[in-house]
Amino acid sequence: MGARCSAAAVRWDAGASADVPERGRLVVDAGETSVGIFRIDGALHAYENRCAHAGGPICQGLMVPRVVELLDERRAIIGSAFDETDLNIACPWHGAEYSIRTGRHAGKPAIALRRIPVEEVGGRIYVIA
Ligand code: FES
Repeated sequence: MGARCSAAAVRWDAGASADVPERGRLVVDAGETSVGIFRIDGALHAYENRCAHAGGPICQGLMVPRVVELLDERRAIIGSAFDETDLNIACPWHGAEYSIRTGRHAGKPAIALRRIPVEEVGGRIYVIA
């Protein structure tokens, strides 16, 4: 349910803080905008649930550790590995991956998801949309 907090923005009660545990997610409707809320290292990150590629439901995709290339002493690529300290989200439509921390595409940082402001007050999470 939303509550008007200014002439331009509405503050939507998205749920309890416990609904978004560490490395968890919650997808809610804030008016006509679907929003995905994630928690990484305690911080909330929220994005419109709309992939920058073709509008797929990005926030409902698989959450996967970021893949990093392994280099030898000459900086030649010798393999790849998961970076368990960072998470990406993969679009269920065509597989584009975005950093959950930044919203930026994993391979093309100029492409990004639309960040949505959220705040956490008194054990509740609010979307400002
Ligand atoms: S719509 Fe997300 S990768 Fe195409």
